[in-house]
Amino acid sequence: MVVVAVAGGSSGLGLTIVQALTAQGKHEVLILSRKENTELGKRLGALVVAVDYRSAKSIESALEANNVDTVICTISSQGDLEPEQNLILAADRSPITRRIIPSIFAGFTYPVKYPDSSPVAKAKSEAIKAVKRTSLEYTAIYNGIFLDYYAAPQLKANIPPWPLFVDILHESAAVPGSGDDLVVFTHSTDIAKFVVSSLDLPKWREESYILGEKLTWHEIIKLAEDAKGSKFNVMHDSETDLRAGRVSMLPSYGKMFQLPEADIQDLLSTAGMWFVNKELDLNPEHALNKKFPEIKPMKVKDFLESSWNGTDATVLDIKM
Ligand SMILES: NC(=O)c1ccc[n+]([C@@H]2O[C@H](COP(=O)([O-])OP(=O)(O)OC[C@H]3O[C@@H](n4cnc5c(N)ncnc54)[C@H](OP(=O)(O)O)[C@@H]3O)[C@@H](O)[C@H]2O)c1
Repeated sequence: MVVVAVAGGSSGLGLTIVQALTAQGKHEVLILSRKENTELGKRLGALVVAVDYRSAKSIESALEANNVDTVICTISSQGDLEPEQNLILAADRSPITRRIIPSIFAGFTYPVKYPDSSPVAKAKSEAIKAVKRTSLEYTAIYNGIFLDYYAAPQLKANIPPWPLFVDILHESAAVPGSGDDLVVFTHSTDIAKFVVSSLDLPKWREESYILGEKLTWHEIIKLAEDAKGSKFNVMHDSETDLRAGRVSMLPSYGKMFQLPEADIQDLLSTAGMWFVNKELDLNPEHALNKKFPEIKPMKVKDFLESSWNGTDATVLDIKM
């Protein structure tokens, strides 16, 4: 038993990891948050510790006072580097803290290969550089695209839908490239299970891979059409379109990105080229799946069927 602190464990992937940790019951679990939340802590069976991410010293005191052995960072500070940089510094200075998982959980190694592609890529790239500078043991996790993104808005979930390239609610898709390139989709609950199991590993690799299921865009569209029982309007953006910075706009994009259309085109054409270049067709030599074969990742077909079967057709907006 060790003390595990999940920074950002009050929502999203972090909350899912906290739930997996408390379900397993092997470790003492702490949530680091910007605010006190005793009600959340009681509900989850974890202590919520409020920290000031602007002060490495205050985080260090919290880690030391609570005997934190392992920090799992899942904060999503949208390009603000300081909170995670201070957390990493604090974990390194805390005499008890031994290990850290930075907030990477990226589709593939874009923070390393394309650090300037977006503020989020930059933040992740800087987090990797920062953990490398410490004496902590660390692992950066790569897991493909969150399958949760393709859920129906009615589904109760820690991670809200964010229907990238396939807008199931509006029965439409804008396929980057041929649509035949393979892409890894992994549900957050499976990521959480692998993360929890990996705490038992005596040694971590600097990079860890978690593979849900690998499908092409055409295959996922077909599964979504079957789950909804309808035919989608499928557009294709060729490599030439993507190179020219053009993508087809889907109905949910405005609400998802809340950016001018030119910026959305910019971001998605860059991401679209990653599929053309088969970046999401992950083929790691070592995946956590091999270490923990008892964890059977969720099948995309099962997820889409349970998510979309019998959904209310009058709901026409994604929940964010
Ligand atoms: N591969 C994929 O497809 C994929 C998809 C989604 C996310 N991700 C990655 O998964 C990780 C978790 O993302 P998520 O969507 O689950 O996160 P999230 O729910 O948006 O945020 C998690 C927590 O971060 C904390 N936070 C937010 N802004 C902060 C700030 N400025 N300073 C400090 N803390 C802040 C909040 O905790 P408090 O309010 O309690 O402080 C929040 O509950 C991120 O690394 C993200 O990039 C990957």
